[in-house]
Amino acid sequence: MYNEQSVKYPLGSPQAAIASPPPKDQQVFINRTCILLAAWISLSATLFADQHSADEQYFNENVLPIFTAKCFDCHGAKVQKSGYRLDVREIALAGGDLGEPPIVPGNSSSSSLLSYVADNSADLVMPPKESNVTRLTTAEVGVLQKWIDDGAAWPDSANEKIDDPLDWWSLKPLQKPDLQLPGAAAIDHFVNAKLAEHKLIMSPPADPRTLARRLYFDLIGLPPTPEALDDFEQASRSDAEAALDQLVEHLLASPHYGERWARHWLDVVHYGDTHGYDKDKPRPNAWPYRDYVIRALNEDKPYSQFPSYPGHARARPVCEAPPPYDLLTKPRTMPCVLLQERVVKCRLRFS
Ligand code: HEC
Repeated sequence: MYNEQSVKYPLGSPQAAIASPPPKDQQVFINRTCILLAAWISLSATLFADQHSADEQYFNENVLPIFTAKCFDCHGAKVQKSGYRLDVREIALAGGDLGEPPIVPGNSSSSSLLSYVADNSADLVMPPKESNVTRLTTAEVGVLQKWIDDGAAWPDSANEKIDDPLDWWSLKPLQKPDLQLPGAAAIDHFVNAKLAEHKLIMSPPADPRTLARRLYFDLIGLPPTPEALDDFEQASRSDAEAALDQLVEHLLASPHYGERWARHWLDVVHYGDTHGYDKDKPRPNAWPYRDYVIRALNEDKPYSQFPSYPGHARARPVCEAPPPYDLLTKPRTMPCVLLQERVVKCRLRFS
């Protein structure tokens, strides 16, 4: 028969797993210890908070005036000599272009900043001798020394906020905006908002011939034939929406679509059929890569797979092996097949 207990509690019965309560006198002891411990924690938290705010006050009253009078001219919000700021805590601690942390909280003797201000014969002397800012007095050096030894407290109020250099819209997660307009017209919501911001209105819709020309140039980079224009105009007369859909699909399916849009990527990787510069020698093996990019676009290859081409990244400009498998397994044209041997040994340098 199925024995639930032995399955659920393979190491013993459930009762044995629950600890029996301790005897009464032990309970009293435990309770007292808990109370004492809680009191100690809260007392030390209070002491710590007091000490912390005293340290911050010391910074505001003694340290900040020195920085303001003798350092901010060159390490403040406006000027940052050596990329160093003394009004932003993270930079003040981490250091500037020299790449060494000049303040080591709790340890003034390891803090180079202190030797810069105290020692006239240090590698760096701050403020620099040739500047018209006066050197620190012994008392001021003492203030900085005490402040660093006490942990270099820095209140938020004295910490300038600087823009995060990586705070880019392109690194933020995508958000689905709450839109009133559903479907394809949703994009108009954003366009209209920007137009309104600049006190502009939509242009009138383009006539079919203009629209077709725009689509051709945009999607395949070539003008439409006169016949294609006539066809589109005629189709638009019976059903403008359907004619538009059909033309867009037709152009997206065209091999010229990849040719047109590959240009942008090929520019990024400095693609060229010749080396350029004075001798301008040909790069005979470059074109398979060009064809690869075009084909990737035409086949809607996801970007995650796109860089799999071995000669791809400029970080790995030389491809030794393995071969550009995509070219070998799915050659698009006969010359690729014929050139397999050479492709395997290709050396691609586009930069
Ligand atoms: C008149 C301009 C000027 C003033 C005032 C000045 N500095 Fe400098 N500071 C410089 C220059 C220039 C450098 C870069 C020197 C070099 O690399 O040779 C520098 C570098 C530094 C560095 C190294 C930064 C790094 O790259 O890691 C620290 C630390 C520093 N200064 C602290 C101070 C302190 C503290 C004060 C005020 C007591 C001060 N400086 C006042 C001009 C100034």
